[in-house]
Amino acid sequence: MGQTLTEKILEDHLVEGELETGEEIGIEIDQVLTQDTTGTMVWLQFEAMGLDEVQTEIAAQYCDHQTYQFDFKNTDDHRFLRSAAGTYGAHFSRPGNGICHNVHRENFAAPGKTLLGSDSHTPTPGGLGELAIGAGGIDVTVAMGGAPYYIEMPEIVNVRLEGELPEWATAKDVILEMLRRLSVKGGVGKILEYTGPGVETLTAPERMTITNMGTELGATTSIFPTDEQTEDYLERVGRGDEYVEIQPDEDAEYDDEIVVDLSDLEPLIAQPSMPDNVVPVSEVAGEDVEQVIVGSCTNGGYEDILPVAKMLEGRETSMETETIVAPGSKQASEMLAREGWVAEMMAAGVNFSEATCGACIGIGHVPASDSVSLRTFNRNFEGRSGIEDDNVYLCSPEVAAAAAIKGEIIDPRDLEEEEEDLEAPGVELPEEYDGSKTDLIAPDEAVDDELIKGPNIGDVPIRDQLSADVEGEALLKMEDNITTDHIIPATQDILMYRSNVPKLSEFTLSRVDDTFAERALDADGGFLVAGENYGQGSSREHAALCPMYLGIEAVLAQSFARIHRANLFNFGIVPLTIDEDTYESIDQGDEIEIVDDVYEAVTSGQEEFTVRVGDDEFTATLDASERERDILAAGGKLAWTREQAEGAS
Ligand code: F3S
Repeated sequence: MGQTLTEKILEDHLVEGELETGEEIGIEIDQVLTQDTTGTMVWLQFEAMGLDEVQTEIAAQYCDHQTYQFDFKNTDDHRFLRSAAGTYGAHFSRPGNGICHNVHRENFAAPGKTLLGSDSHTPTPGGLGELAIGAGGIDVTVAMGGAPYYIEMPEIVNVRLEGELPEWATAKDVILEMLRRLSVKGGVGKILEYTGPGVETLTAPERMTITNMGTELGATTSIFPTDEQTEDYLERVGRGDEYVEIQPDEDAEYDDEIVVDLSDLEPLIAQPSMPDNVVPVSEVAGEDVEQVIVGSCTNGGYEDILPVAKMLEGRETSMETETIVAPGSKQASEMLAREGWVAEMMAAGVNFSEATCGACIGIGHVPASDSVSLRTFNRNFEGRSGIEDDNVYLCSPEVAAAAAIKGEIIDPRDLEEEEEDLEAPGVELPEEYDGSKTDLIAPDEAVDDELIKGPNIGDVPIRDQLSADVEGEALLKMEDNITTDHIIPATQDILMYRSNVPKLSEFTLSRVDDTFAERALDADGGFLVAGENYGQGSSREHAALCPMYLGIEAVLAQSFARIHRANLFNFGIVPLTIDEDTYESIDQGDEIEIVDDVYEAVTSGQEEFTVRVGDDEFTATLDASERERDILAAGGKLAWTREQAEGAS
């Protein structure tokens, strides 16, 4: 039987296990990336494990989420990250140089390689044929130290693309269509492998818009085969020699197949406040728009902004609409500036921003209250823009530019009829991506050779070994689809404490219940109860680390999002799955007891646990590999890795 593309790359990197769905496999990691909100913990853990040098081919530390440096704490973090990259041998991308995924794809992503990143949109270079997976920071730490990354072998789904995109439909519409069909849970436990004749009609950057936002489907990763388009892109970024051809075998067998006919697509838009709340743009046309933002790791490339610049050339943006362009990388800004497009956009009324995540996580450009904001981003979870009850729509750069001109949501095909000389800009790659590289510091140019820790850089908390008795109060009962933004909001005022866990923990789940953190600390142990897809969203390990710090011992949920589930193991919190009846039977404030000797049950491989709630008993399931059980029993991955190192010495 032939192999899928994913199987070929995995087999090349396999160090443990067999490529069978559901089996745990260990794979060798070639590249790692981390960013400023997750990176401080990554390096503090690297230090705490006693590791002294990066072992992967490439390790890159980016500063992208909080580049405005509102507070010395941000600047201290960035200085610490630069010192860690220099001390341990990683590339360092200075604040303002761009979003990790954009800078990574321009400089390092390569076909056939494996990439592990402590950011949920790490799958972006899947569009270049790299097998790229988002993970918790501690997984990245361990991989960077040279150990394999362990994962349950996902199902592999063939997403067969047919036809060709019509005018005004874009790569963003391909992934919005996938979200419309599959929902934010549709990719959980799956790798989406794109195949079919439609693939060759998409440039590599378009493919990377699709793979980037596969994260919103909950997919482990998404990947495209490589071909002339891939080689062409690599040549334009000056790395043509890194091209290798990787294709699935013709007789490869997939677990499932989805067919998307590109020629059927039209401009789509995700309505507030979920990326899967997708409808044709024409259905919501006429809605006034107060803010338009073009940028992010999904649509912040040179080739995403150029169509906007072309549409705005010689026009003016609406007086009622504030239009912001924030490129994904400084290289894109520099190239657009050299070609005169930045001036064109500014003349049209655009506010041109530095290359940063910024507004994507509510840092800057917070929408006005009760207003509509149209963004080319990948997420519109409620409150993520920095204001509760926001109305954020997600769309392509072309739809965003049309709204900026009109001041309201409009299908760009209709705008084309209204506006003289407006035509679909299409996709155009630059001859050469030739921005300067002054903000990317290679390990051999490092400016520091020892760690520099400011007063906001704390210690890494470590949990004790798992106890036999786990009991306590159901401290919080939550609904379905709780995101890591709910657990630890990523807004500026909160995120600056990311290296200071005791302080950051005060904000845990404050968006759900602002008394939670205090109650949890007072209770000294207890449970969280949640519905489906608990912990979806970013890879933020603080969403497990802070509950651990507050004493949470177990989470009872109907299902868990992949990265968050791994993070719970990594921080010694027992993730137990319950059915809907059990979920309905538990009320916040109930006393819960796990009847079994939990340490014994976890280490002996027991799957079903008896949970007592008042006079009733229910069954909860622990679905975990032997390695995950060992990690949980040790009190988390840091404690476990230390145990392993001590055992080996
Ligand atoms: Fe940054 Fe938003 Fe992407 S936070 S990494 S631009 S999802």
